[in-house]
Amino acid sequence: DLHQTICNSNKYFTMLSFLYSKCRHSKLQTKLYVGLFVITSFWAILVLANAFNAKPSTSDLESRQALRQLAAQLNLTFSVISNTKRNHTARITLRNPLSGVWLGAGIRWRLYFSLMRPVHQVIDGPFRLTHQNGYLHQLEPVGDLATGGLAPGGEYSIRYVGKANMLGRFDAFPNWYAVLVNKSGLEVAAEVLAVTASEALDFVNPLTRPEQYKTGPDDVNEPWTPFKRAEIQAGYLGNERPGPQLVRLVPKPALAEPLGGEQRPPSTDCLLAGLNVASSSSGGDSSGCKPAGSSEAAGLLREAAAEAAAAAAGGPCTAGEMNLPRWTASLQLCDNSSSKFGKLLTNLTPGQASEAYELLLDPKSGQAVLSAATPVGLFWAAQSLVSLLQPGGRLAVRRLFDYPRSQYRGLMLDVARNFLSVEEVVRLIDAMSAWKLNRLHLHLSDDEGLRLPLTAAFPAASRRCHPLSGEASDQPVCAQPPQLGSHPTQWGAPPGCGSYSAQDYAAILRHSASRFVRVVPELDTPAHSLAAILAMKAQGVDLTDPEDPGGQPSPQAFTNNSVNPCLPAGAQYILDLMRGVSKLHAAAGLPMLEYHFGGDEAPNGTWTNSPACRRMLSIPPDQPVDADAVSRVNLRRLLAEAADAGVDALLGWSDGFAGADLRPFNLSSLTAGIRRPRKVVAVPWHLKPSPRDLAVAGYSLVMAPATRLYLDHRQEPDPEERGLYWAANFTDLYTVFSYDAKTDAAAAGPDADILGISGALWTETARQPAQAFSLLAPRVLALAERAWHHADWEGAAPTDGGQAAKARSRDYAEFVSSVGHRELGRLASFGIQFRLAPPGARRLGGDSGGFLLTHELPGVRLFYSLESGATRRWVESDRLVEWPSGVRRVHLMAAFSLPGHKAGYYAQSRIVHIDR
Ligand SMILES: *[C@@H]1O[C@H](CO)[C@@H](O)[C@H](O)[C@H]1NC(C)=O
Ligand SMILES: *[C@@H]1O[C@H](CO)[C@@H](O)[C@H](O)[C@H]1NC(C)=O
Ligand SMILES: *[C@@H]1O[C@H](CO)[C@@H](O)[C@H](O)[C@H]1NC(C)=O
Ligand SMILES: *[C@@H]1O[C@H](CO)[C@@H](O)[C@H](O)[C@H]1NC(C)=O
Ligand SMILES: *[C@@H]1O[C@H](CO)[C@@H](O)[C@H](O)[C@H]1NC(C)=O
Ligand SMILES: *[C@@H]1O[C@H](CO)[C@@H](O)[C@H](O)[C@H]1NC(C)=O
Ligand SMILES: *[C@@H]1O[C@H](CO)[C@@H](O)[C@H](O)[C@H]1NC(C)=O
Repeated sequence: DLHQTICNSNKYFTMLSFLYSKCRHSKLQTKLYVGLFVITSFWAILVLANAFNAKPSTSDLESRQALRQLAAQLNLTFSVISNTKRNHTARITLRNPLSGVWLGAGIRWRLYFSLMRPVHQVIDGPFRLTHQNGYLHQLEPVGDLATGGLAPGGEYSIRYVGKANMLGRFDAFPNWYAVLVNKSGLEVAAEVLAVTASEALDFVNPLTRPEQYKTGPDDVNEPWTPFKRAEIQAGYLGNERPGPQLVRLVPKPALAEPLGGEQRPPSTDCLLAGLNVASSSSGGDSSGCKPAGSSEAAGLLREAAAEAAAAAAGGPCTAGEMNLPRWTASLQLCDNSSSKFGKLLTNLTPGQASEAYELLLDPKSGQAVLSAATPVGLFWAAQSLVSLLQPGGRLAVRRLFDYPRSQYRGLMLDVARNFLSVEEVVRLIDAMSAWKLNRLHLHLSDDEGLRLPLTAAFPAASRRCHPLSGEASDQPVCAQPPQLGSHPTQWGAPPGCGSYSAQDYAAILRHSASRFVRVVPELDTPAHSLAAILAMKAQGVDLTDPEDPGGQPSPQAFTNNSVNPCLPAGAQYILDLMRGVSKLHAAAGLPMLEYHFGGDEAPNGTWTNSPACRRMLSIPPDQPVDADAVSRVNLRRLLAEAADAGVDALLGWSDGFAGADLRPFNLSSLTAGIRRPRKVVAVPWHLKPSPRDLAVAGYSLVMAPATRLYLDHRQEPDPEERGLYWAANFTDLYTVFSYDAKTDAAAAGPDADILGISGALWTETARQPAQAFSLLAPRVLALAERAWHHADWEGAAPTDGGQAAKARSRDYAEFVSSVGHRELGRLASFGIQFRLAPPGARRLGGDSGGFLLTHELPGVRLFYSLESGATRRWVESDRLVEWPSGVRRVHLMAAFSLPGHKAGYYAQSRIVHIDR
């Protein structure tokens, strides 16, 4: 209608736009318009001329300027309206905050962005909204909005129903971007919307109402108030109180003998800085032990002493002041049948014996003696000594005898979803080793990226960016668009783009070997392979059957993301990945002993209508393909090839060894007539297949239950906490600490070959190292605890009268005390950021009374601020806070500072509040 025509012809009406600034929304009298029309008839003629004129009237340069203006000015908000058990509704609102300027006028534009859950159905709004693939969506204005742009002050919303739930801020992703479409329909420029560029994701409206943050009325999960938090944490502790403790290492040693009661434990303040390491020249010993002053363990001690000395320089520990207590560490490697050390090993399994160590400490003489049968055992002894000598405590132990409960103490790191640099991986390896984790399972490929130079899929598969037409030739080919909120045009930059060169990977392998951590590479196939499939397709190689209509979308909403092993190119691709990474290991001088082929989440229906699979399995054209038969062929090839490549253990996610019904293939029939690696290891992570079924079918196991050990899950049931929640509503420090590995193992049956446990850090929501590390830590310390130490409360019968629960509380109280007083500082020294829980609070009696601040980790600094206007003044609390009269709200925060660093905090919690 006329009104709209006038509004749309903004180009000619900019001068008059103040009159129309509410064209779409105001209720101006038609009379006024008629009057205006008459007065501006000259302009109107031009408008009509324009309407019939198809010739582009905006130059390319002007179009790009209009796109930049749109991206800089558009105010976009994303709001979850409500969740139900099965889906959610949400609203995307676009506002033009400018007066007098139409945004996006005269150009054709669309937005792209990622959402954790795919849009299912639009309810209403002047946009077309479509799910592209995986996380990526497209939104395009339609009708008047498409031609005329957003009116000054205008506000436009679209509402939609999306699949599953969106319960938190971090289900949204940053870097929504606008793309310019030229007159030929080609996308020629992309600009990030400024309002969505911040990692704070403040364009996402807070989820404050229960219908927003709950899956329905029967969902009991509420964000914790400080009072609730304190109550929950007190429940974990039972009647125990974490005190300043002296002996407890993380992970807890098998045996720790405290210093005799009459001896006052010396302060550890300057011990590490003054530590001497005896050289290897001093003579042997008649009981079958040889000095090991040039072992890796000795190297670690020298390094730690030098670092501590450097950190202490100028302080009270400086050597020049001669008041430095000097300890000497003597290291020895002992024959495992020796009279002295060998006897200690008698009741251990060979695996345990190979990592066992003894550490003797004599405060009177300042002697530390470290003994082990192997260099790795000695290395763990050195790690324990470094930990015991951390400043700020007392050395209250005289002897440790220690060994791990199991050999595989793993952490999976996903560098495919979002990339982490060599430097960050190295930091993580140092930290893992300090807490005696010994397997870094690197998830090196997924739908979103491939991070090693393997096969012709590289380098395109290692990059995500928006493909633009006619750009300068320096735009690299990116296999994937910017999934998961990576940047559309920062070509080459993490988190979307990145890879390890052969040299980088060798550096990671060598560094981890020096820390006795083994890298277990995972190249995930046949599913989770979209980046590689697209990269190969661009080169004319099909890894999927072009005649296969494809199966269901994957759980992450990708379609056609499974390599088809019935195609010669598909079969070869899967084997090439293993051969390629095996060569990288060989070139680094560290043979690949363990390889993980992924195997998870192949969508139902994949391959069932593939003509190539029909040909391979000699199935008549009208018959469906048995996808399980395809999986078996693929597994047999992998197993035989792995054996040939010298792989000792082939690992896979548990469903990778199972059919579509999630029942595992029997391993001996699977491997009949072929060579296979010594161990075939299934990693159960979800309900099915169960550890028991896998064990019965012949697989060894590494337990990685998502409900307990997935460190990508949020740490509280709060919409402001980063992380997923599909396996558990929340996974806090205690959830991981209290994982009963013994009961889990027992459920797998008496004959199950359980190699150990593994945590997992998937990185969909972690775009920055600090975000990834804050999901990891401090929970990774609880993972290390469970991986190494078999606690006495594990596996207790429900009828034990609460004894196990009491023991667990005591153990947890000791653990959090160590974490708060010592381990947080060590995490910081490795450059690992960590999450601090917000404070808890307990009301003191009476209405006028104040409250007590609490925290799950003793030793953390607690602050409060009385609400007064916008400025916040933090007061550090000795935990007891009076409630001042007239104050209705108090804000709370926990923080951690590095010793000696007064300014700033190394870590701080979310800010929370309590109301009177
Ligand atoms: C966007 O609009 C909302 C609602 O009007 C407003 O609260 C917010 O401050 C605006 N954001 C920006 C960056 O202008
Ligand atoms: C979303 O869930 C509600 C409640 O279960 C249901 O009524 C509705 O049909 C669902 N919407 C879609 C589009 O699936
Ligand atoms: C989350 O809590 C609800 C109870 O409110 C429960 O029904 C649901 O199973 C939990 N979700 C997970 C993944 O454990
Ligand atoms: C002792 O060490 C040898 C060689 O390392 C090994 O083969 C043997 O199994 C070990 N014995 C025990 C009891 O650990
Ligand atoms: C659209 O962009 C492409 C690539 O830059 C260019 O070849 C084409 O001429 C453009 N079309 C128009 C109508 O400008
Ligand atoms: C999957 O691939 C097949 C074959 O190329 C194609 O016909 C089908 O449309 C694709 N499915 C989707 C959802 O893209
Ligand atoms: C796949 O199909 C099987 C039946 O063929 C069914 O048991 C299973 O639950 C399905 N899996 C998924 C993820 O839909």
